[in-house]
Amino acid sequence: MKASDKQSLVNMAIKAAENSYSPYSSFRVGAALLCADGSIFTGCNIENASYSATNCAERVAFQTAVASGKSNFVAIAVAGGKATVGENPCPPCGVCRQVMCEFCKEEFIILLANKDGFKEYTLKQLLPLNFGAQSL
Ligand code: THU
Repeated sequence: MKASDKQSLVNMAIKAAENSYSPYSSFRVGAALLCADGSIFTGCNIENASYSATNCAERVAFQTAVASGKSNFVAIAVAGGKATVGENPCPPCGVCRQVMCEFCKEEFIILLANKDGFKEYTLKQLLPLNFGAQSL
């Protein structure tokens, strides 16, 4: 992936946070998921009065992509925040990391927006010793 393409994906994640439904936390999150065929699916966090029915931005992006027939993924950008989205990194929660692990290889790229642009990780770095299909 070119650096400019990574920054574009991060910008899409920041934009996706505009649709965040987060009346309980006021913490807006956006995600942009790049598929192997070049298509991009975005997601935002969607909260619920029950709290537990809340869906994270990353999972919304994955669910939308998978429901659209996609199964090969290259990278995801994540941006979150209260007053400003994307200045401070929003690391994916454990459940989202587990969902990434279901569909992605260990070299899957995770871009976390920050005030300088983004910081880059692999899934292997964020979820070492994972429990996946190979564990069963
Ligand atoms: N959130 C995400 O959307 N993604 C993450 O990886 C971290 C947390 C959302 C869930 C909730 O709506 C809000 O951020 C505060 O936890």
